[in-house]
Amino acid sequence: MNGEFRSYAKINLHLQVIGRRADGYHELRTLFQSIALHDLVRIEVTGSELSLRVVEGRAPSGPENLALRAARLYFERWPPAAGVRIELRKRVPAGGGLGGGSSNAATVLRVLDTRFRRASPAGLWAAARTLGADVPFFLVGGTALGFGRGDEVIPLPDIPETEVWVVTPPVSVSTAEAFARLRDLTPNPLPSSIIELAQGGSVKNAAAVRGHNDMEAVVLGWVPLLGEVYESLFDAGASAVRLSGTGASLFAFFDHTTSVRDLEARLPDGTIVARSRTLGRVESASCGRSLED
Ligand code: C5P
Repeated sequence: MNGEFRSYAKINLHLQVIGRRADGYHELRTLFQSIALHDLVRIEVTGSELSLRVVEGRAPSGPENLALRAARLYFERWPPAAGVRIELRKRVPAGGGLGGGSSNAATVLRVLDTRFRRASPAGLWAAARTLGADVPFFLVGGTALGFGRGDEVIPLPDIPETEVWVVTPPVSVSTAEAFARLRDLTPNPLPSSIIELAQGGSVKNAAAVRGHNDMEAVVLGWVPLLGEVYESLFDAGASAVRLSGTGASLFAFFDHTTSVRDLEARLPDGTIVARSRTLGRVESASCGRSLED
């Protein structure tokens, strides 16, 4: 199954950090949401070697690249190995808390398993969580609850499609350092709108999920530029602004029309603004279908 595949990004509509774990990670309760913003991953089964090229945007192209590690892990767990050539077109801002690298890894696992059919769903999930805490979500997509390190994922019914603005200031935030700076842990229940959703209820749109992000106070206080961008988005009329994951990307909802140009004019130089939308599960799963089929 050769071809080019969409590898969608995510935002966290809600993120609670409820405790520290013995393995050094943090125990989370999060609401993941797939969005239309995506990288393109070209995968060709050919020859006898695993190779990766980044043909657009920036990402590591060495053995540490998660897409390459995903291919290597797939053939280690389900031999024999095949040669795979991977090409990445990176369009999701890196280091933004949008899960770009994790999504690429899940796309590779999904595409290889569609081709070779060697893994069980549980086996594929186990491989995904070995690669990173966010990778299992990308095997599920759409709207989903994440528990544990974020890697225990429970799919929820789709939320009606909602326009969302993804704003990435020119700063990078280390996930490990952001978690290390967190002092206040909140073992509170999930917000009622999320509990209702999990019980089969509905919400009008993604903006109506009254989530929050526990990392926001830490990261906005630590990186002043992010705090400025956050305020500027409210000044521009956003009805809600939230940090995605541990940042540096923020996402915003607007009740009125706005434009990339208008927002960029209000934000620091080098800030990337993308107009996107939330995706339902079926559309997010199209990352397993070649764009060329
Ligand atoms: O899983 P991933 O490699 O993306 O995580 C990066 C780092 O973020 C981890 O090494 C850990 O320090 C921190 N982290 C955490 N709790 C989580 C997820 C990540 O402390 N649930």
